[in-house]
Amino acid sequence: MVKRRQLGVTIVGAGSTRTPALIGSLVNYKERFPLKKLILFDIDEDRMKVQEDYIRLTLEKYYPGVELIFTDNEDEAYIDVDYVFVQMRVGGFEMRSHDEKIPLKYGLVGQETCGPGGFAYGMRSIKPMIHMVEKIREHNEDAWILNYTNPAAIVGLALNKVFPQDDKILNMCDQPYSMIKSFAKILGVDMYDIEPRYFGLNHFGWFTKLYNAKTGEDLLPKLKKYLRSHEFRPYNAEQRDQSWLDTYKNVNRMMEYFPEYLPNTYLQYYFFADEIAKASNPEFTRAEEAQAGREKQVLDICKKARKQQSLEEIPLLVGEVHGNMMVEVAESIAYDLKKVFVVMGPNKERKIISNMPEDAFVEVAGELGKDGANLYPYGEIKTFYKGLMENQHAYEKLTVEACLESNYQKALEALTLNRTIVEPEKARLVLDDLMEANKDYWYLK
Ligand code: NAD
Ligand code: G6P
Ligand code: MN
Repeated sequence: MVKRRQLGVTIVGAGSTRTPALIGSLVNYKERFPLKKLILFDIDEDRMKVQEDYIRLTLEKYYPGVELIFTDNEDEAYIDVDYVFVQMRVGGFEMRSHDEKIPLKYGLVGQETCGPGGFAYGMRSIKPMIHMVEKIREHNEDAWILNYTNPAAIVGLALNKVFPQDDKILNMCDQPYSMIKSFAKILGVDMYDIEPRYFGLNHFGWFTKLYNAKTGEDLLPKLKKYLRSHEFRPYNAEQRDQSWLDTYKNVNRMMEYFPEYLPNTYLQYYFFADEIAKASNPEFTRAEEAQAGREKQVLDICKKARKQQSLEEIPLLVGEVHGNMMVEVAESIAYDLKKVFVVMGPNKERKIISNMPEDAFVEVAGELGKDGANLYPYGEIKTFYKGLMENQHAYEKLTVEACLESNYQKALEALTLNRTIVEPEKARLVLDDLMEANKDYWYLK
């Protein structure tokens, strides 16, 4: 391979326990996406400190020569870098836990990105994300901002509204990538040979084609046939927590009702809302499950590295989905590779989905190259999907407006539109409770 120009990257929300595996992905891709500088920025110095030695030792061992900077100073974080990878969780796991538990009190879905929990999380995330973009642009006009912060549908819509001219902000989700990896395993093909076609909003969309890039064959009919008699399991089922296995299984069930396309797993919260709420344990939601699982595993490894000051008997953690996708996305932009990903973007002039509102922030397949995302126009969608998506878009739009205008009425309208809620009285009760729990983060008049 021709030697590629070395780049600088900042990770925002570097205290995330996803960061060590992201570093592993950067290590594995060091020929394809060579680094000269890596800045790790988080507002929580303590959270970053736990992982610092593991990360430093990893770079010394596998990636010598990279300048490594840890900082909690936003005025240092963005200087002289080409990419900013963003994965912040405003309010941390403590607030994630509230997002998931408060709705359950009212018999509503408790989820970090969908339903009332996603609403509350969106209300917390929008303003810090706007502030971050302003800070980045104060110090760095050119860096690509690759955002993964959730709820990405709402954050992406808000950023597009506030920075409509900034075409170097991209909002991404790894769930389609993760699902494609699972399709590939079932179909016995390389995931990079699958070229998807997809439409929707983030965490609210459908795969419509899965082209085999080598033969041109659409593999979706074959996959649909398989799923009629086999449970859908993620490619790494053995390592997944029970809640994720249940989630994948619900794809089979959704397809019994609507067999045309293959739905994103997140649609389960809208189609099976009552059932999922009833089956949830209000004392132990995904926040605790993720902390007992991924978070503990990663922190134990980091603590071990810190104690022994070496990587002896410590494996290189690698982000098979989140980390790899982040690096592949940046690589495709940096070297104009025009690889196909499922990405979000504005439906400006209705160019992408012709019968959806032009202010919708849609998610479709597209190529990533030096000019950013070239979203493939999908054309018209059918009435059923259009009805669902228009409703969800109206919810997302009102949520963004409620946040930017501190407008209680719009928040109530948003939550009433959300398919996981529907009744205004439930919307009001859950909104008031969420507002109280979030009083350090947002307030509505
Ligand atoms: P985490 O809580 O482990 O880590 C997030 C870090 O962000 C924390 O260390 C926290 O201190 C930091 N943070 C909070 N506010 C910040 C701010 N204003 N500026 C800088 N840092 C800040 O969370 P996690 O589970 O690793 O998830 C991180 C984020 O990535 C979440 O928003 C999550 O939903 C998102 N995520 C998105 C995708 C996707 O597909 N788009 C996939 C995985 C995770
Ligand atoms: C997928 C979704 C992300 C979400 C994550 C939650 O990757 O695409 O948007 O943040 O799952 O995973 P967790 O393990 O934290 O529940
Ligand atoms: Mn996602």
